[in-house]
Amino acid sequence: MNHFLKLLDLSGDEILELLNTADQLKYEQKNGIPHRRLEGKTLAMIFQKSSTRTRVSFETGMYQLGGHALVMNAADLQMGRGEPIQDTARVLSRYCDGIMIRTYAQEDVEALASEGSIPVVNGLTDFSHPCQILADLMTIREYKHVLSGLKLAFIGDANNMSNSLIVGCLKVGMQISVACPEKYPFDPRILEFAKAYEGFRLTTDPRAAAQGADVLETDVWASMGDEGEAEQRRRDFAGYQINGDLLALAKPDCMVLHCLPAHRGEEITAEAFESHADQIFDEAENRLHAQKAVLVSCMGA
Ligand code: CP
Ligand code: NVA
Repeated sequence: MNHFLKLLDLSGDEILELLNTADQLKYEQKNGIPHRRLEGKTLAMIFQKSSTRTRVSFETGMYQLGGHALVMNAADLQMGRGEPIQDTARVLSRYCDGIMIRTYAQEDVEALASEGSIPVVNGLTDFSHPCQILADLMTIREYKHVLSGLKLAFIGDANNMSNSLIVGCLKVGMQISVACPEKYPFDPRILEFAKAYEGFRLTTDPRAAAQGADVLETDVWASMGDEGEAEQRRRDFAGYQINGDLLALAKPDCMVLHCLPAHRGEEITAEAFESHADQIFDEAENRLHAQKAVLVSCMGA
């Protein structure tokens, strides 16, 4: 694999192969088995938005793989003063072995990849969050032992998380039902992709989506960049919440996932969150292992 830009670019088999590598790397890390597969390599990380998990898991992951990571706020780079992303890509390609970027426009990530000569990894855009979905699928497989045939219900916004979950789940043979208010339409590229799959269902009714689910997942109502709409969104998304009533409609052993950060009392109740905290923090941990698999696949020999 050259770049890791969005799950639309990968086949189901390629996603599963990354999950297998992630499982192997997790095993090696947990058992103290050295796995310095990126010895001497440098990853440049550009952040145009805040991050806790992405930043720490990539930096730690590079260290564990024998490499090094540079963390850069876009505002501190010349990029923040208008230097074109194309030139940034060409310069970083002369110093580093890979780039991870978290930004707004998916097009900027694609431009970095096409203008530079080193692998680019998407650490979240407004359109997609592929690293998170790898970790989510890895966590589901750890708990349920299979992916194919399981039903995931996503309750909430048509955003980077739900876009990528739709693609990831369908590609690995899962069913996905999404409950989202009509006012927040999905990106046409996602709907175009999903329409070929019988396992895809889009509804405005969280109860219909949650029915018989193996996994319930949600995300914030206002993503980074949507802060100005937070009040309006609180009104529009009221009822799109993972709570006891919704869990009662899902399978009795239903998992709950949340990419974090979570807003208790909004998209999830404190009770639903805390009673599934083991799963949610396993999911957060698996960012580390899943991203190490991506880094090895993109930047390895
Ligand atoms: N889930 C996630 O990407 O977390 P951060 O925003 O903290 O990186
Ligand atoms: N949809 C959220 C995900 C955060 C990890 C956001 O973009 O802010």
